Amino acid sequence: MKPLLDCCEMIDLPRIHDPRGNLTFIEGERHIPFAIERVYYLYDVPGGSERGGHAHRGLQQLMIAMSGSFDVVLDDGISRRRVHLNRSYRGLYICPMIWRELDNFSSGSVCMVLASQRYDEADYHRDYETYLVDRKRIG
Ligand code: TYD
Repeated sequence: MKPLLDCCEMIDLPRIHDPRGNLTFIEGERHIPFAIERVYYLYDVPGGSERGGHAHRGLQQLMIAMSGSFDVVLDDGISRRRVHLNRSYRGLYICPMIWRELDNFSSGSVCMVLASQRYDEADYHRDYETYLVDRKRIG
């Protein structure tokens, strides 16, 4: 089974500095390696909440802390890495077949996710043991 965590990386997004307020923009297939098919966001997250707890078979995502901060634990079935997100101009790219968990949400935090495909429950691995079996099958 080959490591996959290295394909997950922080992407620094363009920033237009302005005394009136800064601006960041994202163009699919230019600043991130996929075309954007869906955007969703987590907000009003109660303190101590955990989200995620699944992997995607084919979906690519970019996760951004639009406000506040939270942690993403990435797991490729071999090793785990904890990433802290707290900047609205920096996104975490997550490739397919990565198990992820989100926790440590600060109060008022907003997690925005850009996704490469529309919502499809069949794309989810929601059981860690089944995910591991699939990871070993893929190699
Ligand atoms: P889920 O992806 O499990 O949330 P998280 O990873 O943030 O914990 O989704 C939670 C619920 O929302 C689940 O019932 C599916 C639904 N959902 C949609 O209908 N469309 C979407 O684009 C997403 C991301 C989730």
